[in-house]
Amino acid sequence: MVDLVSQYEKIQPEIDKAVLDVIRSSAYINGPEVKAFQADLESYLGVKHVVPCANGTDALQITMMALGFQPGDEVITASFTYVATAEVIALLKLKPVLVDVNPETFTLDPKAVEAAITARTVAIVPVHLFGQCADMDAIMEIAKRKKLFVIEDVAQAIGADYRSKDGTVKKAGTIGTAGCTSFFPSKNLGCYGDGGAIFTDDEALAKKIRMIANHGQSVLYYHDEVGVNSRLDSIQAAILRIKLRHLDEYAKARIRVADYYDRAFAGNAKVVTPKRNSQSDHVFHQYTLILKHADRNKLREFLAGKNIPAMIYYPVPLHLQKAYRDTRYREGDFPVTEMLCSSVISLPIHTEMQEETLKYITESVLEFLTTN
Ligand SMILES: Cc1ncc(COP(=O)(O)O)c(C=O)c1O
Repeated sequence: MVDLVSQYEKIQPEIDKAVLDVIRSSAYINGPEVKAFQADLESYLGVKHVVPCANGTDALQITMMALGFQPGDEVITASFTYVATAEVIALLKLKPVLVDVNPETFTLDPKAVEAAITARTVAIVPVHLFGQCADMDAIMEIAKRKKLFVIEDVAQAIGADYRSKDGTVKKAGTIGTAGCTSFFPSKNLGCYGDGGAIFTDDEALAKKIRMIANHGQSVLYYHDEVGVNSRLDSIQAAILRIKLRHLDEYAKARIRVADYYDRAFAGNAKVVTPKRNSQSDHVFHQYTLILKHADRNKLREFLAGKNIPAMIYYPVPLHLQKAYRDTRYREGDFPVTEMLCSSVISLPIHTEMQEETLKYITESVLEFLTTN
């Protein structure tokens, strides 16, 4: 689905030097590269505080811990998302409240969010799925009116701009109370292992997040809170500093691939190409089609036979996952999510895709669609 080797080869001398410099410095943990990356990312995002951590799942967990949520508090999130979002809510003994998504953008449906709010609701977690922002104007309006925190899950959309109706433009993840991201290798900004970060403009919250990520201490061996151990390695930070300089050009490369796919599939009645929300950039972490009147498994097998990978993000809605089964939810409760889980298919998309490959993939998909 991605070609990280070709991407590395283009920046190899810089990366190799940066990694070797960290090894030679022996500042492997919380070294100068971590602080420098933090500052670079703050300036790129236009946010006051970035707190690096070990992965995107930790970023969500630490943020919820820092906001002081108590067992039983309700956190609203999408039923169509990667499991990490709901996992940390459940892990902290909070109550995940799932709501359906918009059938065109696959992101939180604000009307469903509003309907799910109760006296125990403390936060909304919009997931900027597949590379574009949820309807943040509507979500922020609800959150302000109902006095709720907004934790943006920006693991799949780092670098996307969101244009509010009032004219302000902000980077994904810097609109709500806090933004949480992942630097998993295949992410739009990925390192060569695990990594994550939290962004916020709130100084007191940033301080608490930093403390919780560091065993609940702000002074060595004085632990004011129960925390966790969640750090970004210096080597990963050094790699991310270099890759951050290329992030906008990487997004453009992904958008070029999406444009190619869109053109190739335009007008075909058997596929729905991804809708681009006019208020948000789409940085195409995934290029996801909805298949109509065609057998998804057969298409996948057909493509596999031609050495073309295709993935299903995600095959099972959260409310039907074994671990998240709950008497509150039944099959049929989230019709859009259930429709998406049974009909979406994602095609390869990455920064190094050549026209020849795109031609081969699109011709193969179209061949299948005309013969099946
Ligand atoms: C939407 C979403 N949230 C959270 C995560 C968790 O990130 P990580 O794998 O770094 O823990 C991911 C990444 O896989 C993701 O796609």
